[in-house]
Amino acid sequence: MATSRILGIETSCDETSAAVLRVEDGRPSIASLVILSQDVHRVFGGVVPELASREHLRCIGPVVDRALAEAGLGASQLDGIAVTAGPGLIGALLVGLMYGKGLAYGLGKPLIGVHHLEGHLFAPTLEQPLEPPFIALLVSGGHTLLLDVEAWGRYRLLGQTLDDAAGEAFDKVATLLGLSYPGGALVERLARQGRPGRFDFPRPMLRDGYAFSFSGLKTAVLRAVRASDDLERDKADLARDFQDAAIEVLVEKTARAVEESGRDVAVLGGGVACNRALADALAQRLEGIARVVVATPRLNTDNAAMIAAAGAWRLQAGERSSWELEPFDAGPLPGLMGEAVVTD
Ligand code: KG4
Ligand code: ZN
Repeated sequence: MATSRILGIETSCDETSAAVLRVEDGRPSIASLVILSQDVHRVFGGVVPELASREHLRCIGPVVDRALAEAGLGASQLDGIAVTAGPGLIGALLVGLMYGKGLAYGLGKPLIGVHHLEGHLFAPTLEQPLEPPFIALLVSGGHTLLLDVEAWGRYRLLGQTLDDAAGEAFDKVATLLGLSYPGGALVERLARQGRPGRFDFPRPMLRDGYAFSFSGLKTAVLRAVRASDDLERDKADLARDFQDAAIEVLVEKTARAVEESGRDVAVLGGGVACNRALADALAQRLEGIARVVVATPRLNTDNAAMIAAAGAWRLQAGERSSWELEPFDAGPLPGLMGEAVVTD
């Protein structure tokens, strides 16, 4: 039985994460996963890039050591190192990438740079067997992408957001409602107490192809917040109607992509996939049409296990990154096809 052990490192934004993945005959299992979420940004209402880099620098060594210790491995027992190369904050990426490079070079192990979104795509494979083809909706703080995954490494871009990412819209609405950052999960919790239908928010581009737009919806929430004479009273209803509008667009386009492609699996990935209302609405809409696959929340938000999973697949396919590998702040998925170009 062929077993390999891959160290994953993720530092693209405000999580310092390391994981050891055991891959036995192509089946991945998590031997350890350490995620350190940086708290320093909370008071600023958003991620401060310089602070993120400093925190990564302070924590990367101990986080990697802890992941190895929890897996019961010495670094020399690793078979490869997978590290997020982009997209993300350059200074933050640099810390993880240089650390991973140094480790791989020093140990004489293969290095593979991983595209962060490909990591999100692989997250469900950590919990259940999943093989393409399938339709994937990737919804995070920085991206909103609808893909036809024809095979691992072969992705057809169906649509993406023209302005804000879905997670960004959740975070901005959270700020408007006086919730802390990042506020997606808080908006969802508040929405559970809200009554639907009080605010008539737009469903941007609902019937227009596969592209998304969330900035108009966010502005509509801003106007409603300004018009409210008692935000404390209205905020749960505002959260509910915002969330319903965002979910309707995400679900409708994903379901249409499933129906038009004839695929029988839909994967929901990225931080916003932690939203139960979204996952439930998609499963309900696709009942009898397609199986909806969503990883558990810990694996949907940024983590190094998903990076190790994508890296393990590329390593077993024979790919290696060069020692000259540089971080990138924006760029398309490797193997992406389609009309549109992902710019960040
Ligand atoms: O994938 P992720 O951890 O980081 C990026 O790559 O961006 O996604 C983070 C995003 C944030 O915008 C956060 O507010 C959002 O995911 N998020 C949620 C929920 N949990 C996290 N959005 C809506 N509902 C949630 N339950
Ligand atoms: Zn992410």
